[in-house]
Amino acid sequence: MSKVEQNKKAWSLLAEDHYNHYKTQFQKDTYQFNPIVQRELGDITGKKILHLQCNTGADSIVLAKMGGVVTGVDLVPDNTYFAGKLARDLGVENINFVTSDIMELMDTHEGKYDIVFTSDGAIGWLPDLDRWAQTIRYFLNDDGFFYAHDAHPFFLALDEEKLKEGITEIKYPYFSREPDEDNTIGGYASEPKESKNYFWMYTISELVNSLVGAGLSIEFLNEHDRCAPGMGGIAIDQDNLCYYPSLEGAFPLTFSLQARLARPRMVAG
Ligand SMILES: C[S@@+](CC[C@H](N)C(=O)[O-])C[C@H]1O[C@@H](n2cnc3c(N)ncnc32)[C@H](O)[C@@H]1O
Repeated sequence: MSKVEQNKKAWSLLAEDHYNHYKTQFQKDTYQFNPIVQRELGDITGKKILHLQCNTGADSIVLAKMGGVVTGVDLVPDNTYFAGKLARDLGVENINFVTSDIMELMDTHEGKYDIVFTSDGAIGWLPDLDRWAQTIRYFLNDDGFFYAHDAHPFFLALDEEKLKEGITEIKYPYFSREPDEDNTIGGYASEPKESKNYFWMYTISELVNSLVGAGLSIEFLNEHDRCAPGMGGIAIDQDNLCYYPSLEGAFPLTFSLQARLARPRMVAG
């Protein structure tokens, strides 16, 4: 079985639990984007949005509630099934879901979008960053933009258990070429499940260079010492963001990035 197929099998074990978890969160009105994402995204009313790796649709639904017209894509049929069910349960209409490997999306899906969006815990599941960036470029309108908010590779390199004790120790080499193989998945919106899975480490320069190589220009790249609940941290602040109190300001936990199609350079004369 390929590594992507293995990941598909692993993620499918979490689908129903994630649906139940996020349904409860929406019903209690406790699920929304953190203030950084809200501010950086700005007004998205009426924008056509392609949400890559949408899982069971929680962030897609937030985008739709903010006024976007959203298409969420995920590898796992159970995820897109439960994403559609969650949207219907919540009465969200301006949304639909597509099942596809992002690596194959240029062959399986058509359309152009004002915004291509990806969020927490997504990029490292993909085996080919250049293909990812070309896919983003392919689906963007000429005046559209790409927005990402995800775990910072510096944070991903550290031993997550030691961090809880305030110790920073590299566990996953920053420049690793091979994906990390794990036997457990989930735990942030469900109980962890036993299933082999693979996660790739991408450096900040690889992320930026893949987008630039695909013909995009970076408008901003920001680093944050906070992350969303479930992604790390042992304390929570007034904005519902998590952090390590003894390591506050010591290293970035997440990054956000916006990119647009690069314009051809004007040559004088
Ligand atoms: C941590 S979740 C992302 C959650 C996301 N922040 C959200 O909106 O809820 C990662 C998702 O990536 C999906 N995924 C993994 N590999 C993929 C691939 N090759 N193509 C499409 N989706 C993939 C998984 O099925 C999983 O739903």
